[in-house]
Amino acid sequence: MDDTPAQQHAQLAALITRWNTAYYQNDAPEVSDAEYDEKRRALVMLEEAHPELKAEGSVTDEVGAAPDSAFGKQAHRVPMLSLDNVFTPEEFASFVSKAARFLGLDTKAADALTFVAEPKIDGLSINLTYKGGKLVRGTTRGDGLVGEDVTANLLTIAAIPRKLTDSAPDEIEIRGEIFMAKADFLALNETMIAQDQKPFANPRNAAAGSLRQLDPAVTARRPLSLFAYAQGFASERCASTHQAYLDQLKKWGFPVNPLSTPIAHASEIPAYIDDLARQRAALAYDIDGVVFKLDDLDLQSRLGFAGRAPRWAIAWKFPSEQAITRLEKIEIQVGRTGALTPTAHLQPVNVGGVIVSRATLHNEDEIARKDVRPGDLVRVQRAGDVIPQILGPVPEDKPRGPAYVFPAQCPVCHAQTERPDGEAVRRCTGGLTCEAQVVERLIHFVSRPAFDIDGLGERSIREFHEIGLIDKPGDIFRLHEKADLIRTREGWGELSTRNLLRAIEQRRSISFSRFLFGLGIRRIGERNAQLLARHYQTYEAWFEAMKAASLIGSDERLALGSIMGIGESIVADLLAFFAEPHNLATLSDLRGELTIETEARPEEGPLSGKTIVFTGTLHTMTRPEAKSIAERLGAQVSDSVSKKTGLVVLGEKAGSKAKKAAELGLETCDEAGWRLLAGLPAAN
Ligand code: IVH
Repeated sequence: MDDTPAQQHAQLAALITRWNTAYYQNDAPEVSDAEYDEKRRALVMLEEAHPELKAEGSVTDEVGAAPDSAFGKQAHRVPMLSLDNVFTPEEFASFVSKAARFLGLDTKAADALTFVAEPKIDGLSINLTYKGGKLVRGTTRGDGLVGEDVTANLLTIAAIPRKLTDSAPDEIEIRGEIFMAKADFLALNETMIAQDQKPFANPRNAAAGSLRQLDPAVTARRPLSLFAYAQGFASERCASTHQAYLDQLKKWGFPVNPLSTPIAHASEIPAYIDDLARQRAALAYDIDGVVFKLDDLDLQSRLGFAGRAPRWAIAWKFPSEQAITRLEKIEIQVGRTGALTPTAHLQPVNVGGVIVSRATLHNEDEIARKDVRPGDLVRVQRAGDVIPQILGPVPEDKPRGPAYVFPAQCPVCHAQTERPDGEAVRRCTGGLTCEAQVVERLIHFVSRPAFDIDGLGERSIREFHEIGLIDKPGDIFRLHEKADLIRTREGWGELSTRNLLRAIEQRRSISFSRFLFGLGIRRIGERNAQLLARHYQTYEAWFEAMKAASLIGSDERLALGSIMGIGESIVADLLAFFAEPHNLATLSDLRGELTIETEARPEEGPLSGKTIVFTGTLHTMTRPEAKSIAERLGAQVSDSVSKKTGLVVLGEKAGSKAKKAAELGLETCDEAGWRLLAGLPAAN
């Protein structure tokens, strides 16, 4: 282009303005998403290079500018929980009686508990913060404690009120589910396939993928919606029952699911469930069950949560949706650890409103056990966020083909496969001589929970590997030396190459847990990577400890095995990784290219790490309630008093334990003091 930057800017801005009008106002897009994205990004970059061109009110500000780094992290003030499941009336009854026991209710009071039933929407939960009635921030659930700041993306969703339309507490957090309707999901996938992009597996993934876009303009063009259903932090109380809270949500302008219903007695539950199950396939959006919530909000807050689920709510999961179709062929894929996984190619079929054409068959034994053969008519099931599964063949008149024989050689590198005793998975023995493993490791390395490099997905990794640009992870950080070559490849213009190299540079500094996960060590998934990172905090400390831990009986090996959540097989996998010289070479190569950040430890409170003993009668809460509060604050609860006890809470008529505490000179307090320490309001 010979035009001056100012001329280029004017042309691009006019184009984007016209396309915006066509898309947003006329519902008649004039160009493909990809073309729109490319031009919009070009405009953003031009404005970055020439800030003087960005007059107030540039079109790039209309839906939010493209952020130049991944999402910011945001700790939740109130954790975002998941739900425990029940599947039968008996299990539901046991959920109610546990809650009643926790609260110290008698049978009659337990029988009088009322609930609200809501469809369990299969999307992703978000937290919206309003200050002075205005939306100031939106975050994803993340790991429940820390989420991602996706405010700019949420602002593009019409169903989310920017301002509350009724008086509200000064600060309030509203929670709900972002989802994509089934029909919108199907249409989106068609567009993606037409543009040679990978389609989404289900509406839930499509919603999550759309919300977590780095460019809000992309989110803006995805049809996302919201049902609000819960509260997070609130500076003031807004209702005394969940039902009243839902009514308040509607007044504030939130969409609340119209099928949410008060349940006056547990006996009404089966009818609600049957009714919703019958409507399920015809609903415009995916649901995977019913959520029952105790209506009384005071009781909810007394019940609190155990582990990661509340004691005041439960999910009744529906069985998965099923359909029958023909199995066209079985394909074997080789993963990054050499595992051979069979994938079923199916004649496309509608399962509960979603078209399915691939399914997993898990492993060799599974195929034999189910005796599924290519050409069979099979029953397929779709279960929420899980990849569709094949349940088994259905009888038909046609003669069947021969039984399937699982390959004894790797279909990619032709090395022998082996299946260690006691394991279900057959693996290729080719290691890094197997192209499939090399490529899959690289794909894992750049995946979202790992290095998450924008513009370097599965397709580009395969392409760059094929032409010899990337053989090992460290090569990614040397791609800038090959920029000239990349630029000349089809689909890689000047702009996209620059964007890619910039995205790579941004990842030269990486959190320790993402780094660990990215290595793709067997059994070191996101959670274990986080456990290790929090424990060792720095890459250097971890590296030294792993080297030392290779000695049986060393302190480091003992310490590794005693990290909460790190079991024997994980220790074995870590040590096996360290025993391979090529893995050590990968580590030292990466170490030279990267800055690996120190991992932060979760915050500590006044009770964290202390052992507490409760003795005597408490009047404002039951024992289990007191125990759970203590544990939530990071303390341990014990029954017996010893030198190691950090605090003894003396209820009424505290006997021998109070005496012993005094003898040992331990810290003690009464029930009121305990409430104060735990940050609870004083009881009347
Ligand atoms: S209540 C502490 N209500 O289900 C209560 N959750 O399996 C948790 N979900 O993370 C939220 N529909 O993403 C609630 N009506 C509903 C829901 C719902 C869907 C999701 C939510 C949550 C997950 C737990």
